[in-house]
Amino acid sequence: MSLIAVLLANTVTVSLIFIFTTAFFFYFLFKPSKSSVYRFPPGPAAWPVIGNLNILDMKKPQETLCQLSEKYGNVFTFHMGRHKVLVLTGYETVKEALVNRADDFGERGLTHTSTMFGEGTGIIFGYGESWKTMRRFTLSTLRDFGMGKRTIEDRIVEEAQCLLDVFESHKGDPFDPTTNINSAVSNVICTIVFGDRFDYNDSQFLRLQQLVNQNIKLVTSPAMRLYDISPFLGSFLANFKKIYSNIFEIQMFFSNYYHERLDIVDRNDLRSFIDAFIAKQQEEKAKNPNTYFHEMNMVTTARNLFAAGTETTSTTLRWGLLMMIKYPLIQEKVHAEIQAVIGKERPPRVEDRKDMPYTDAVLHEIQRFANVVPMNLLHQTKSDIDFKGYRIPKGTPVIPLLTSVLFDKNHWETPHKFNPQHFLDAHGKFVKREAFMPFSAGRRVCLGETLAKMELFLFFTLLLQRFKFSLPLGIHAEDVDLSPTPGLTNAPNPYKLCAIRQ
Ligand code: HEM
Repeated sequence: MSLIAVLLANTVTVSLIFIFTTAFFFYFLFKPSKSSVYRFPPGPAAWPVIGNLNILDMKKPQETLCQLSEKYGNVFTFHMGRHKVLVLTGYETVKEALVNRADDFGERGLTHTSTMFGEGTGIIFGYGESWKTMRRFTLSTLRDFGMGKRTIEDRIVEEAQCLLDVFESHKGDPFDPTTNINSAVSNVICTIVFGDRFDYNDSQFLRLQQLVNQNIKLVTSPAMRLYDISPFLGSFLANFKKIYSNIFEIQMFFSNYYHERLDIVDRNDLRSFIDAFIAKQQEEKAKNPNTYFHEMNMVTTARNLFAAGTETTSTTLRWGLLMMIKYPLIQEKVHAEIQAVIGKERPPRVEDRKDMPYTDAVLHEIQRFANVVPMNLLHQTKSDIDFKGYRIPKGTPVIPLLTSVLFDKNHWETPHKFNPQHFLDAHGKFVKREAFMPFSAGRRVCLGETLAKMELFLFFTLLLQRFKFSLPLGIHAEDVDLSPTPGLTNAPNPYKLCAIRQ
């Protein structure tokens, strides 16, 4: 056989192997499963492997989904890689799923990335009986430690005093309030989790915040979206390695503390969430060897409280101060109400809120406009379900899109404008709005909602009772950028302000 004939034969063989392997791969990737019994709503046409990721704005995915809902309606299918995701938009649809059909839509949706954060343990990415047990225990322990009560109110006011002192130390010069607000809010959770607060300059405390904030940014990076559709790439991705090493370091922090307390916890003097967990663990161990009260659940739950309880609330407060310097007339009205109801001498109390409709409306509007968790957290269907004329299989990931509720044009008069009037009637009285859903709703509703509302009211009114906030010299209100920085949470772009004692 001539050389040319051999080469030709080899090329044909290689090509045939390639074609068959590719066809085989795609057959198993996209083979029609039992899906014939299911009927998904329409959505944009999907590419092999990447699905619809080519049209997703990685920086503002919520905006792509809102635009798609204009075309496909309030229930549509979006392909995240190979996975069909059910997207729900607008107040009525999101409420129908999360509240009226709470059982069907109440399960947490998991991705390869979210599995890195606890493998079903803890609360945020926990599931099944373990999640139920941890959520119930955490809620009751938070209540025992004063969530929604006067004890935690006193703690928040004390912490706010420390924050006021730091703000005052700038003597009216411009500064970026991010780290200090983060530390103050974080300390409220630390008092609950560890039974103690940290100094704002404590290097371990700052490191912990840095690790958590870094992970919150990294989880939504394009690299991790790639990991979700091609998990075998994981160990090659720098962000993947970074998230893992950050989780490990955070884990060690909580784990070390847990081991320090393990043998010295006094059942009659429980000082923290971790103490209460250890006491419960010892009680359970005697009667139930398969208890969910094990070290991994303690570490993940404590980590969840620290992460979920810090970033969201402190980001909302930063939006609040930004709004006050951009809209000085609104700030003036808040000052006037604080002066009239509380005065200058005593600190605010939660019960003042009902007498302060304008401040209440401003705080609600800050939360609506800030839209701090724009995509919500992922849910999934608990079983095969019928919804809006479609038949959806068990385990389908669901996005109940909070952005589409907080900016629903059928519910808000001026959805894209910061407008406290959304929460006031013609007589200036506070009105509740049903489409106000920043904490989501249903079985997975934010566990820290009560605590977050207390913190927002007390920190905000204490800051505005003491200071008048303004833009640094030479910067005008029109220059203030209200577009958020991308990530799991919507944060304002870094800014500086001046805090002038009044
Ligand atoms: C302004 C502040 C906050 C906002 C906007 C917020 C928002 C949210 C949202 C949207 C969810 C997802 C709900 C869902 O899956 O449907 C969530 C879950 C959660 N939040 Fe918050 N949150 C805030 C503060 C807090 C605080 C202070 C804590 C801690 C005490 C906390 C702890 C949690 C936990 C543990 C979950 C997971 C609940 C579960 O899966 O069962 N959050 N939050």
